[in-house]
Amino acid sequence: MMAGGVALLSFAVRQAVRRPKCGSGGVLRPLSMLSNSHRQVSQPHGSARPSSSLGSLNYAHVAPDPLADPGVFDDINTYSCKRQTGVSLKTLLDTGRGHLLQKKYFGKEENTTASQQMLQQVACFLHRELPIRFAHRVRDLDAIPVMREMPSIQLVKTWYVTSFHEIRNAPTPNTVAKEADFAVLLKNIYERHAPVLLTMARGAYELRQKYVAGSSEFYDLEVHNFLDAFYLSRIGIRMLIGQYLELREPPKADYIGLCCLRTSPRDVALTAIDDAKFMCTRQHGDAPEVTLHGRLDLTFAYVSEHVHYILLELLKNSMRATAEFHGTDDMPPIRIVIADGEDNEDVVIKVSDEGGGIPRSHISRIWSYLFTTADPEIQRGFVDLSHPASDFDTASPLAGLGYGLPISRAYARYFGGDLSIMSMEGYGTDAFVHLSRLGNHDEPLP
Ligand SMILES: Nc1ncnc2c1ncn2[C@@H]1O[C@H](COP(=O)(O)OP(=O)(O)OP(=O)(O)O)[C@@H](O)[C@H]1O
Ligand SMILES: [Mg+2]
Repeated sequence: MMAGGVALLSFAVRQAVRRPKCGSGGVLRPLSMLSNSHRQVSQPHGSARPSSSLGSLNYAHVAPDPLADPGVFDDINTYSCKRQTGVSLKTLLDTGRGHLLQKKYFGKEENTTASQQMLQQVACFLHRELPIRFAHRVRDLDAIPVMREMPSIQLVKTWYVTSFHEIRNAPTPNTVAKEADFAVLLKNIYERHAPVLLTMARGAYELRQKYVAGSSEFYDLEVHNFLDAFYLSRIGIRMLIGQYLELREPPKADYIGLCCLRTSPRDVALTAIDDAKFMCTRQHGDAPEVTLHGRLDLTFAYVSEHVHYILLELLKNSMRATAEFHGTDDMPPIRIVIADGEDNEDVVIKVSDEGGGIPRSHISRIWSYLFTTADPEIQRGFVDLSHPASDFDTASPLAGLGYGLPISRAYARYFGGDLSIMSMEGYGTDAFVHLSRLGNHDEPLP
C-alpha cells in the first residue's frame, strides 16, 4: 500500500518535473499566499545591515514590500527567459586585475581611479546579471517537485523575490557614489541568502519524514536534479557577489578578491584537518591522525575557501567512518595525497580512509540530498537550529543532513572539476577531488 503510494508519487513527480516554459504566466505565483509568519521571518534579513567597511544604504526608491507588488512577478517571468552569462575563474581574475576594463563605459566622472573604474565595471555586470539569475531560481523553486509548497521553500523564494526586486530598483552603479550604494545593497543580499542551504535542508528533512526513507523510489525522486541545479547556481551567485565585495576591501598579497593566486592544497588541508579533528573529538572523544603525501609544495590559483569546504566534508566523513568502524582505541590514519604534474589540467587530491567503506547498495544514494546514515536525532537537532547557519560552519555536527558529498561535488564542478568516490566494502573509501587548474571553464549554469 505504502510502496504503491510512493511509486505513484514518483510517477507524478516525473510528469510534473519538466521545467516551466519561459513567459508562461501561470508559473510564478505571487507570495500573497504565504502566511504572516513567513513574512515575519524574512523581514530581519531585509533590513539594511551595512558592514563596517561599507556606508549606509541610500535607496529611498526601494519599495518597502516587494512581495505586495504584483508587477514584480511579471518582471521575474520576463527575466527568467533571459540567458545567464557564465564567468570563468580566469575572467574573475582578469576583471579583478582591471585587464578587461573598457574605459569608454566606466569612470566617466573626473578623477576616477583605475580601481574605482574596475569596481564600477563589476558592479554594472552584477546589476545586469543578478536579476536574471535570481529570476531563474524563483522559476526553479516554483517547479521543484513535491517540495515547492513547503513553508521552508516558500520562505527561500521570498528572499529571491526580494533580492530580485531590490536590484531591479537600484540605479545602474556607474558612478562612485552609486557603486558604493550598490555594494551596501549586495552585502545585505549576501547576508539575507546565507541561511538558504539550511532552510532548504529543513524542507528535505520534512520530505524525508513524509515518505518511506530507504525505498528506492524515495531516492529516485527527481527532486535531486533540481536541488543539484539550485545549489550549483547558488554557489555561482555567492561567488560573484563575494568576489565583488572582496575586491572593495584593501588588497591582500597573493589575492584577487576571493581568488588566491597561490592556493596551497597542503595548507588548506592542514586547516581542514584541524577543523575536522575538533568536530570528531567533540562527537567521539578522539579523532584519527591524518598524514599528507605527494606534492606538498604545490600552489595554484583557486578559491581556497572552496577547497577547504570540500576537504573538510571528506575528512568529516572519513573520521566518522574510521571512529565507528574501529572504535577510538586503535584508529588507522587517514591519508591525503596531492598529485599534480606541470602539464596536468587538474590538481587531484585523494582522501583515503580505512573506515569500512560504503555498501554497494548505498553508493547510488550518497549523492542524494536526502540520504544520510547519521542518527535521525542529530538531523532533527540540526534542522531545529533557530540561528541561521552559513555553509562554512564547524558548529554543525560531524554528520547530519546528507549534504556533505553533493554540495562538495557542486563546489568542485563549479570551476570545471569533479568529485568521485570509490569504496571497498569492509575496508575503506577513496575520495578523488579534481580541481581544474587552468581556470578557463565557464560556470556550469543550470
Ligand atoms: N568515507 C566514508 N566512509 C563510509 N561511509 C561514508 C563515507 N563518506 C560518506 N559515507 C556515507 O555517505 C552518507 C552521505 O554522506 P554525506 O557527507 O553526503 O552526508 P552526511 O555525512 O550523512 O551528513 P552531512 O550533511 O553532515 O555531511 C553518509 O551518511 C555515510 O553513510
Ligand atoms: Mg558528511
